Amino acid sequence: MTNRLTIDLRLPQDHLATTLRADVLHGLSAAPRTLPSKWFYDAHGSELFEQITRLPEYYPTRAEQEILTRRAPEIAALTRARTLVELGSGSSRKTRLILDALTTAGTLQRYAPLDVSGSALAEAGEALCLDYPDLRVAATVTDFEQDLALGDEPGPRLLAFLGSTIGNLNPAQRQSFYATLRHALSGDDALLLGADLVKDTDVLVRAYDDGQGVTAAFNKNVLNVLNRELDADFDPAAFDHVAVWNDAEERIEMHLRSRCAQTVKIPAVDLVLDLGAGESLRTEISTKFRREALTAELATGGFTVSHWWTDRAARFALLLAVPTR
Ligand code: AVJ
Repeated sequence: MTNRLTIDLRLPQDHLATTLRADVLHGLSAAPRTLPSKWFYDAHGSELFEQITRLPEYYPTRAEQEILTRRAPEIAALTRARTLVELGSGSSRKTRLILDALTTAGTLQRYAPLDVSGSALAEAGEALCLDYPDLRVAATVTDFEQDLALGDEPGPRLLAFLGSTIGNLNPAQRQSFYATLRHALSGDDALLLGADLVKDTDVLVRAYDDGQGVTAAFNKNVLNVLNRELDADFDPAAFDHVAVWNDAEERIEMHLRSRCAQTVKIPAVDLVLDLGAGESLRTEISTKFRREALTAELATGGFTVSHWWTDRAARFALLLAVPTR
């Protein structure tokens, strides 16, 4: 049955190790000290993120699912996609809503998930092949920020980037990402983008600082990743999880704040970090969007927003955009 599943390895064997070293070396020696949020997602971090999506405070996953449940048939009718491409696929609950609608519409032939994790792609791909007997699953292990690796998929293609992961990129990174997308997509393809919206500050901060401490554990897990992969000696207990609203940039930031003056060694990159008491490492930005500004930055990137849907409480947006003619 797995003859309908292919997994194309586009990443060189040492890609992750090389990028992690470069990110840590540049990010942690800069001022302010930062780490890209993609390093949260080892096996344990991915499990913690799944737990986050079920927390009462973390509304984005449920809000996006509410929109997809209601709008998937419309999305299928509008796009008539033969291929669903999904970036950073993760758990496939939301994916299935789109696959179901495209199957009912009778257009779907192929599902092409892109992710840096080969094991996640294999697991999700096997399950989908079982449940969709006519579907070809063509998975690609790649870093989609650098290479979208699209090729011979039957069009029209619908490229889904869900979960407001777009918010983890800063404005310059978002523009270069739109350029990569614009280059990879042709006139009859479409982009389906999930974006979390600006709202009450307390609601936002609580979503990133939950009562059970799951997000704190998720944040601190990146230190375990550095300990394991780079032989570093971070003590996660010597850091506090901090989630703050940056009003000027309209984004939530997660930080790890050093509880005391301490020295941390990261031998694999020859780095010795002297951290002052209260000094923090910024581990994630999670930008929140407004309709007008997001529509405008997509226009700059060569996309015209054709449809904009929100959940009933208007917390989250799902938009359909097409390459500007
Ligand atoms: C789903 C990756 C976009 O920024 O909301 C959840 C990750 N970080 N809690 C987000 C996350 C802290 C998340 N993304």
